[in-house]
Amino acid sequence: MIARGVMLGPDQPVIIHMLDIEQAAEALNGVKMELIDAAFPLLKGVVATTDVVEACQGVNIAVMVGGFPRKEGMERKDVMSKNISIYKAQASALEQHAAPDCKVLVVANPANTNALILKEFAPSIPEKNITCLTRLDHNRALGQISEKLDVHVSEVKNVIIWGNHSSTQYPDVNHATVKTTDGEKSVRVALANDNWLNTEFITTVQQRGAAIIKARKLSSALSAASAACDHIRDWVLGTPKGTWVSMGVYSDGSYGIQPGIVYSFPVTCEKGQWSIVKGLKIDEFSREKMDATAKELMEEKTLAYSCLV
Ligand code: LMR
Repeated sequence: MIARGVMLGPDQPVIIHMLDIEQAAEALNGVKMELIDAAFPLLKGVVATTDVVEACQGVNIAVMVGGFPRKEGMERKDVMSKNISIYKAQASALEQHAAPDCKVLVVANPANTNALILKEFAPSIPEKNITCLTRLDHNRALGQISEKLDVHVSEVKNVIIWGNHSSTQYPDVNHATVKTTDGEKSVRVALANDNWLNTEFITTVQQRGAAIIKARKLSSALSAASAACDHIRDWVLGTPKGTWVSMGVYSDGSYGIQPGIVYSFPVTCEKGQWSIVKGLKIDEFSREKMDATAKELMEEKTLAYSCLV
């Protein structure tokens, strides 16, 4: 997808650096061969390495997909300590060797807390440059609503994922809209099914990652890769006017979410910078769910720090 221009647009040449562990070096080289064989016009180079310094050297965008994978029946917290040491090491390598304005997207779980660890161990990378992926959940929410309304997914916009990329996340449709033949309507009005929106819709989005693992015996792959491209593309090239997306970012205290955690907010992006959408009305139902996912992130933070000592 990156080499085809899905992430950075059809006019942006790319050099792809790929890092894997020693045991996967041969397979990684196979991926490099395939990238060369695909003769992508935008692909100006491929570095396949097991050396974190070589991988991070001069990179402008770092997509952190490496981590110890969650297996069926495992809670995300189970993989925490395995991932903390990976993120600590990669933070130092990025800090020392990546481009100073490098944008970082953490995908591997627990994504929000891995991003927080990376931020803590790479203090010279601006905190605004370290984010985690909740665009996958955002896209899942758009998908569920478009299926229910029987409209194309591109007609639906401005859902919000609040909080953690976990089963406590809060997919919020209170500000979402859908294009209809009578103009733009609120999703709640168009759907006229608050019961579904307040129950099954929320749990389906919250549990979608687990449902995919159960079905495939593997984590989501295509949808996660596509969401990572969406996240970076909008961050670098900007969100369409009147549209926001969800990104896990370091909380600045907006919406009463305490600073010190990486939390998913609605954001718009312009000129390579994201900004949290301000001033949205939050009802009591939402408040409770936003606070519950913040509480889980605080607990994850405490657990992560206990793994560090
Ligand atoms: C997903 O949401 O599909 C993944 O984050 C699930 C997982 O834990 O790998």
